[in-house]
Amino acid sequence: MKNNFLIVMLSLAALFFAVSSCQEDPVVLSTAKLILPEIPYSYSDEFPAHFETIENLQLFNGDGNTIFLPDDFGGRVDRLRNSRNPEVTDQGAALGRVLFYDPQLSINNSVACASCHHQQLAFSDGKQFSTGFGGKITPRNSMALINTSINRNLFWDSRIQSVAELISEPIQNHIEMGMESMVDLEKKLSKVPYYPSLFEEAYGSPSVTSEGITTAVAQFLGAMVSGNSKFDKGMTTDFENFTELEKMGKAIFFSEEAKCSSCHAGANFSAPDLPGGEYGGFGTEDRKGGTNIGLDLVSKDNGIANGQFRIPSLRNIALTGPYMHDGRFASLAEVVEHYNSGIKSHPELDDKLTSPTGSPIRLELDALEKQALIAFLHTLTDEEFITDPRFSNPFEN
Ligand code: HEC
Ligand code: HEC
Repeated sequence: MKNNFLIVMLSLAALFFAVSSCQEDPVVLSTAKLILPEIPYSYSDEFPAHFETIENLQLFNGDGNTIFLPDDFGGRVDRLRNSRNPEVTDQGAALGRVLFYDPQLSINNSVACASCHHQQLAFSDGKQFSTGFGGKITPRNSMALINTSINRNLFWDSRIQSVAELISEPIQNHIEMGMESMVDLEKKLSKVPYYPSLFEEAYGSPSVTSEGITTAVAQFLGAMVSGNSKFDKGMTTDFENFTELEKMGKAIFFSEEAKCSSCHAGANFSAPDLPGGEYGGFGTEDRKGGTNIGLDLVSKDNGIANGQFRIPSLRNIALTGPYMHDGRFASLAEVVEHYNSGIKSHPELDDKLTSPTGSPIRLELDALEKQALIAFLHTLTDEEFITDPRFSNPFEN
């Protein structure tokens, strides 16, 4: 028991579950081993200091072009973290990591959270739509999981207001993981040999409860902080680390003309989610951090309402294609071309994307400018985040 690793074999009991609870698709997990360090990694939901100062956020927003933070916006640290989420503890996040990678959370032991959220892709899955437990397809593109504890609006349509409220949804969702109820899941996981001890360590009691399951996964997601991209490093070096092309792209991104940073704003390059702000805030107002960017003349999926979708984070964006709620664009070049020349006159098109004559704006970027904007978007990739062993698969196959 005292070697460097606590190695727990998935026992015959787990095999029994794989076989007995499956409907059509038996998946045998017999050789998987769980490898957790005896002393769990240390997890934290701290954001880098440059996330937390108003001055820097103003810089993110373009040296005063568009500043969404009201003067009295104090206590940034508290506001950054959604108070509905649990505090991150090492043991809770360690348990959350096991749950996140464990296909036994699905009805037929075939799908884990990680099936649609891969670390090397910043926890997106590289597909237009994802495949759930019975081979069914999700109606929307899988989202990257980055700094989700900042978000007050989750999912493409902002239908949930915190990570903590979201967890049971994919588990029970009949496309994604299909468990009938969280009570069934409690019963199932209590019989898996490694869970009672992990619950004991995290919450002081070996009983597997749905509250413990959701808290642990929320703690793990809370610890998934990404803030060490080339852009972040540039924050402290006056962007001397940037190439000329990246600097040019940055200037376009933060310009009045392109307006990217007026929607993809703040430390997370996502909706300026502030109470009373133009996109609403904290999940309480109509727009819920979303807007309509004129993807279609008539929206097939209405999203929040009227074809509005949440303004997603652009952190790690080079890794998280295909893009948009329906994964319609395969590359960043296609996304940039949408903003450059493809915006449609949807009746609910955001004002920022509408010219004074009422038609959609056309940026008329030349080839070099487009290339520069794409190069800038690549500076938001955080290599440390996607290789951090604390977020990796704890099962060895
Ligand atoms: C079958 C694929 C699939 C599985 C399995 C899955 N997800 Fe997702 N996930 C998605 C899709 C698709 C979306 C976007 C759904 C939408 O907006 O309607 C999403 C969205 C999310 C979001 C919202 C992110 C944001 O910024 O709003 C979180 C958090 C999340 N998933 C966590 C999880 C967790 C935790 C699990 C396991 C309990 C899980 N997912 C299992 C496909 C999946
Ligand atoms: C009016 C607000 C607004 C402006 C301005 C804006 N965006 Fe967006 N952006 C959005 C919304 C909303 C979405 C999601 C739309 C959807 O999926 O239906 C999005 C999606 C994206 C995506 C895909 C994200 C993903 O995870 O799939 C990228 C990349 C992107 N925008 C880059 C940019 C760039 C570059 C600019 C400047 C040229 C820009 N945006 C300007 C609101 C905006």
